[in-house]
Amino acid sequence: MTDLVRVGLVGAGIIAETHLAVLAEQDRVSLEFTVDPRPGRQPTFRGDPAPHYADLADALRAHRPDLVVLATPTDTHADLAVEALAGSTARVLVEKPLVHDLASLARLRGLDEALDVRGRLFTAHHFAFSPEVDWAAALMADHPEWGPVTTVTSAFYDPYVLKDAEAFAAYGSSWMDSGVNQLSMLTRFVDFTELTSARQGDGGASAWCTARYRSRGESGTARLRSSWLTGSSSKESSLVFGRSGVEVWIDHTALTGFAARGGDLLAAFGTDGRTPRKIAHYRPLYASLLSDRPDPVLGFDAAAGITEIHHAVPGAG
Ligand SMILES: NC(=O)c1ccc[n+]([C@@H]2O[C@H](COP(=O)([O-])OP(=O)(O)OC[C@H]3O[C@@H](n4cnc5c(N)ncnc54)[C@H](O)[C@@H]3O)[C@@H](O)[C@H]2O)c1
Repeated sequence: MTDLVRVGLVGAGIIAETHLAVLAEQDRVSLEFTVDPRPGRQPTFRGDPAPHYADLADALRAHRPDLVVLATPTDTHADLAVEALAGSTARVLVEKPLVHDLASLARLRGLDEALDVRGRLFTAHHFAFSPEVDWAAALMADHPEWGPVTTVTSAFYDPYVLKDAEAFAAYGSSWMDSGVNQLSMLTRFVDFTELTSARQGDGGASAWCTARYRSRGESGTARLRSSWLTGSSSKESSLVFGRSGVEVWIDHTALTGFAARGGDLLAAFGTDGRTPRKIAHYRPLYASLLSDRPDPVLGFDAAAGITEIHHAVPGAG
């Protein structure tokens, strides 16, 4: 990326606040424009508003951004990504999930030659950058003698039952929202090969899926639970290294983790509690995106692989 980064932000809802807070920390970033059709949604950046539009096309006619960030409802991502890629020379960061169906993925793939989709389109797989995930991935790399990860269990709960129809409109379903977070976060540890079973319940507010993966030359199964039927957020994952009896627990809500074998604590991780969870995800994500070599988990091929496994769920598109 160039030294100075002119950002256009599209969609000024909940997660946009985190994007703007992290971008504001970087001196070389300026906010070139914001877009949101809903009245009263003009955000500020370092205390001031930027030129604001109701429509991305109008913004792209008036500005030449280096980075366009799409933080809009999931089913708008594909169309807006094509519009941003075709209407500018910018890199485009799309909120996760990249697309809401496989047809949209095929459309983006088909535009690679014309619009350099692989070189310019990135997906904000932010859970892969969470500090407890980083810690556990480094721990695993330091301990090849633990052997392969033989079982993964991940449970993601969000209190979206309280949002009701609004949650379905913004996030699609529990699997659409959390399944991508679980799969992209777990790519730090294992290589997914296929979805082996999928059950969605509670009208799409809950899911139970299993996926096969490879780890250190062996095959294993991940169990993925997600649900919106709760009053509070809670997200945890466990990695079992069955050959050595080691288990790693990571708590994505508390940003903590520990490794144990039987009754012995092998390692533990916590933070100083000063950094809010979403900032802790997006700060390293942006550091990587704005570097010369963005982490492959942000890239189009990673998003395409995750999307294909994710959408193997019957009825998920
Ligand atoms: N909320 C979170 O914690 C969170 C975390 C990570 C990722 N995400 C993802 O971010 C996306 C947005 O989620 P959110 O929670 O911020 O939703 P939100 O409903 O709070 O905000 C979306 C905003 O986009 C605007 N919008 C809709 N269509 C638009 C268009 N065509 N052009 C410009 N703006 C448009 C809406 O008016 C709204 O202000 C979703 O894909 C979600 O999966 C959300």
